[in-house]
Amino acid sequence: MTAQIIDGKAFSAKVREQVAAHVARLKEEHGITPGLAVVLVGEDPASQVYVRSKGKQTVEAGMNSYEHKFDATISEEELLAIVDKLNKDPDVHGILVQLPLPDHLDSDLVINSIDPAKDVDGFHISNVGLLGTGQKSMVPCTPLGCLMMLREHHGSLSGMDAVVLGRSNIVGKPMAQLLLGDSCTVTIAHSRTKDLPEVVRRADIVVAAVGRPEMVPGDWIKEGATVIDVGINRIEREGKNKLVGDVDFDSCAARAGAITPVPGGVGPMTIACLLANTVTACCRANGLPEPEGLTA
Ligand code: GUN
Repeated sequence: MTAQIIDGKAFSAKVREQVAAHVARLKEEHGITPGLAVVLVGEDPASQVYVRSKGKQTVEAGMNSYEHKFDATISEEELLAIVDKLNKDPDVHGILVQLPLPDHLDSDLVINSIDPAKDVDGFHISNVGLLGTGQKSMVPCTPLGCLMMLREHHGSLSGMDAVVLGRSNIVGKPMAQLLLGDSCTVTIAHSRTKDLPEVVRRADIVVAAVGRPEMVPGDWIKEGATVIDVGINRIEREGKNKLVGDVDFDSCAARAGAITPVPGGVGPMTIACLLANTVTACCRANGLPEPEGLTA
């Protein structure tokens, strides 16, 4: 079998169009412009690239973007005061504190100081608890993007065997909750899982989010399975820098029914879902109907 490529770039463009259309309606009918505040601490080059891209796409969707950049030496007290100010600002509907934070700052403390209703990352413990109990919450952007692509490809996911590789709070755990919410039988596998190849071979859906370049070979993939590759790993091959995922693309594509490429798969969906979450948060804050198809 040669896999169908799930084009995250094209799909994310459609999601961003839907977001922009909803933003235009909010402005026209209610005089409201959704606003997203992004807080960046320090000079991490990857974080700077992400934050720039988030700001640009926020503005392109017709929303207000507020960037707050601070030196890596900012104190925890100062950062908490910034978050508090953003929590109270009625023009800010979404707040994102870019991770990782420098070591002297307690990430959990900072994230949990964000108003859960403005927590467009879905990292606040209240949102984690709401998602885990099947209640309305803010859903982490990367798993939400993966879920949207899976629903678009399969329609219903009910009864499918899903294996999530990786148990991070940002991707693995919320991804498993979302798949469970769509009635999959879910296994979370990780570095200590016994017989990992056999576990993965049972899966109709494989979501790889381990951060290890090309870790999953094609012979772990069941014929016809859907492979969602969350990994974005920079490697050097034949003297050139290259982006690769957590799965070995060529050998997995030879067995899978469908697969996301890297780049151009999950990556573009993450920011599209951040924009979607910002509109959702804005609608909820104003007691207005939420955009359809952009939430879990
Ligand atoms: N750093 C890498 N990915 C993310 C993300 O999704 N949200 C935040 N806040 N920081 C990140």
